[in-house]
Amino acid sequence: MMNVNIGLLGCGTVGAGVIELMRRRTHKISDLTGLTPVITTVLVRDLEKPREVSLEQERLTKRPQDILEDESIRIVIETIGGIEPARTFILAALQAGKHVITANKDLIALHGVEILDAAAKAQVDVFYEAAVGGAIPLIRPLKESLTANDITDIKGIVNGTTNFILSKMTTTGADFEEVLKEAQDLGYAESDPSSDVDGLDAARKLAILASIAFHTRVHLSDVQVDGIRNISAVDVAYAHELGAVIKLLAIGADRDGELTLRVRPTLIPKGHPLAHVSDAYNALFVRGDASGDLMFFGRGAGSLPTASSVVADAIEALRNISISISGRIGSMYLGQKPVTQNLQDPVRHYIRLSAADRPGVFAQIAGIFGDASVSMETVLQKRTSERGADIVIVTHEVPTQVLDAAINRLRESPSVLSIHSVMPVEREEQA
Ligand SMILES: NC(=O)c1ccc[n+]([C@@H]2O[C@H](COP(=O)([O-])OP(=O)(O)OC[C@H]3O[C@@H](n4cnc5c(N)ncnc54)[C@H](OP(=O)(O)O)[C@@H]3O)[C@@H](O)[C@H]2O)c1
Repeated sequence: MMNVNIGLLGCGTVGAGVIELMRRRTHKISDLTGLTPVITTVLVRDLEKPREVSLEQERLTKRPQDILEDESIRIVIETIGGIEPARTFILAALQAGKHVITANKDLIALHGVEILDAAAKAQVDVFYEAAVGGAIPLIRPLKESLTANDITDIKGIVNGTTNFILSKMTTTGADFEEVLKEAQDLGYAESDPSSDVDGLDAARKLAILASIAFHTRVHLSDVQVDGIRNISAVDVAYAHELGAVIKLLAIGADRDGELTLRVRPTLIPKGHPLAHVSDAYNALFVRGDASGDLMFFGRGAGSLPTASSVVADAIEALRNISISISGRIGSMYLGQKPVTQNLQDPVRHYIRLSAADRPGVFAQIAGIFGDASVSMETVLQKRTSERGADIVIVTHEVPTQVLDAAINRLRESPSVLSIHSVMPVEREEQA
């Protein structure tokens, strides 16, 4: 059986998982592909650092050229993360005619076009299943299994850190800052958590998924992003009272070629399947015109779960090598679609505000909603201080733009002291 040499860039959480899983599956991979994968060289920064996986010291290197310039290496797996030097290494590997597998969502979201173009030019493949959703197959189903559909909606929980924080806030009643600190102590959140809690990580993943699902190019700046920093324990408690939980949802919609791309905290009714996606789990709904609704669910991160996707990509590369093909699945791009954020789909909304505590105020607020054609489904009123009353309103379904007009009128009203939160509320049923 012929060996195929593989170079691994990085040996951290994902890289160590890849070595471990590749070792466990070598025989199966050989039987399936007729080729035996051998990780010959592993690039790291620190040769002395203890590793999560046993590894002969002589396979480790600090010199990228030991992989990039080794002609015997046919496949390069990148698990370094970040933009540079990962981008330079990947481009060099592609130019040298090596297939590339990466778990790097930041890089694919920002430089995917450049990398895919370089691969096409060099007649090699780039696979990145692990970049979104860890173990959950998302890229390949969108690129292959669902191509007979027009996909109209993708919607999901794609960031484990924020999902962990919101799950903890729900179960403990603690405030955001307290749970964030706990998540950092447990290693679930970075010391600089902004990429996760401000929604950027979810936006990058949405940009990758939307560009494939909707056959267009999506720039990160096209995604409207609200993170979870402003979600308070009060909102979590009101959501509970309303029979819902708060989740950070990434939403992509294609309405006749116009796109809406948003990352927003959203109230999910407890009977909805997404309400049960807790902690480090991820989930994605996909709606195709022929398939109907699909849900993908599983571990969104972790060493072996992520390696599961990376090694499956390596097997795909080996299959292609075994029959001497590349570029089997070309670009998914079929033309540029405008991102208008003009979603007219009616949605219920949760609004929490403080209002002056005097007679007639509620009638004024109701009047503003009535004038804007927004009807109220549920109203909760709680006295919170001498100065004002906490009012929570859930509207009936209304297009977001109509709601926005009503919110602007509320902001101008002297009766409204402050609007604390505005969040969409999902329907009971999925997607
Ligand atoms: N962790 C997850 O669950 C997960 C899930 C999905 C996708 N991903 C993605 O997978 C990638 C890797 O994540 P990770 O969690 O495995 O990261 P990690 O644990 O920080 O590991 C990074 C590895 O890259 C090496 N490295 C970093 N900079 C380098 C440089 N300039 N030159 C050479 N080696 C360098 C490090 O070497 P040293 O060990 O010597 O420091 C380390 O081995 C990222 O793109 C991440 O977004 C991760």
